[in-house]
Amino acid sequence: MGDVGLRYETLPLGSDLDAEAKILAIAFGMSPEKAREWIERSGRTLFRRVMAGDRVASVLMLIPMGIYYGGRSVPLTGVAGVAVDPGFRGRGVARWMMHEAVREMGREGAALSGLYSAMHPLYRSVGFEQAGCRFRISVPLHLLPGGSRQFEELPTGAVEQVKNCYQAWASRCDGHLDRGPYVWARIENWRGTPMRGFVTRDDRGEIEAYVYLHQAGSADPCQPQVLEVTDLGARTPGGMRALMAFLGGFSSIAGRVTFFGGPSHPLLGMLDDRRYAMDLTDHWMLRVIDVRRALEGRGYARGLRGAASFELVDQVFEEQSGHWRLELEGGGGHVSRGGHDGARLTDRALAALCGGHLSARQLRLMGLIEGDDAQVDALDVVFPASGSSMPDMF
Ligand SMILES: CC(C)(COP(=O)(O)OP(=O)(O)OC[C@H]1O[C@@H](n2cnc3c(N)ncnc32)[C@H](O)[C@@H]1OP(=O)(O)O)[C@@H](O)C(=O)NCCC(=O)NCCS
Repeated sequence: MGDVGLRYETLPLGSDLDAEAKILAIAFGMSPEKAREWIERSGRTLFRRVMAGDRVASVLMLIPMGIYYGGRSVPLTGVAGVAVDPGFRGRGVARWMMHEAVREMGREGAALSGLYSAMHPLYRSVGFEQAGCRFRISVPLHLLPGGSRQFEELPTGAVEQVKNCYQAWASRCDGHLDRGPYVWARIENWRGTPMRGFVTRDDRGEIEAYVYLHQAGSADPCQPQVLEVTDLGARTPGGMRALMAFLGGFSSIAGRVTFFGGPSHPLLGMLDDRRYAMDLTDHWMLRVIDVRRALEGRGYARGLRGAASFELVDQVFEEQSGHWRLELEGGGGHVSRGGHDGARLTDRALAALCGGHLSARQLRLMGLIEGDDAQVDALDVVFPASGSSMPDMF
């Protein structure tokens, strides 16, 4: 179909949302009423649509937030709700829409874009690459240590109170979101299920650890409940231990606790037992929207000094293609044009490197990087694989 006759635009103020709600409803298996509520609750300004003549062909959603790498928040635009009217599918509409969205993010000053992918070819074709996996982690509650620190329940509407603690936690975990209002709004109420928030405080009254959870019963009263955690965070090792003990206190009624994250989740590292399980539920992908903003915006290990050159082949931002050099010093990165002695890499490879998901050596094995050992090793020094994870779904 190409771009002939297609128009990418924001949702006009005051327009009825019938067509957009219907497309989302069919795509994601919900009622049109729920889809309309989703648009209205999130704010129609977050949505974009593609018009084919006077018909709405597709929609998506752009969510402004950030993502932590090396302790710093890098501006990230999340993409969600990608949906094409069944009458327009299979003709390149989604690809064209994603291309337009990526260009818009460039104009708006994003550094990175991120999304959860239901199928990779669409997103790879505009420069996204897998940057991590999201797992549902299930820990038998009897494995958690005991303890007696007091937790208090937060009233509904008090999520603001845990933000400092979350930020202290998330900024130490590469790949965690620097949440914006859209994601924060889902912490107390996850897709219609109210969550209960509990916190423990230090001597100065500051929240040291918190958790949002829901006790999911079983139809069979003889079966134990499951403690479903939608969010947790801690600022200190003492806060982590207190949190684990608090969750362990539910063991008389619930058999296990579930939460989301990756294999490097700090709670797993603090267990004395290996008998927990992880189910791979989702893949998330990144795209580098702006090389300079993405690489200078993130943090690096303070003592790390090094430099790497690379030649980028960017399929959307041709103006970004060409030779770049990244130099590290004092925990920051400096990016300049030039350096003709580096490996050649695609926009997808750069995204994977930024995400810390795969090493340059692995990406060369996959055909996304061309270079000799020295060139590839230089990339692995400045882009260390960091076991990044993203517990939030958007
Ligand atoms: C997925 C969806 C957005 C694709 O829209 P579309 O306009 O038909 O996609 P395009 O024609 O632009 O295809 C772009 C690429 O994605 C691939 N693709 C499209 N649908 C796919 C599917 N269901 N599974 C795997 N790949 C698919 C195409 O093959 C094409 O890649 P190719 O050129 O290498 O063959 C559409 O089918 C839809 O709305 N599905 C339901 C909602 C959904 O899954 N959204 C994505 C959530 S991440």
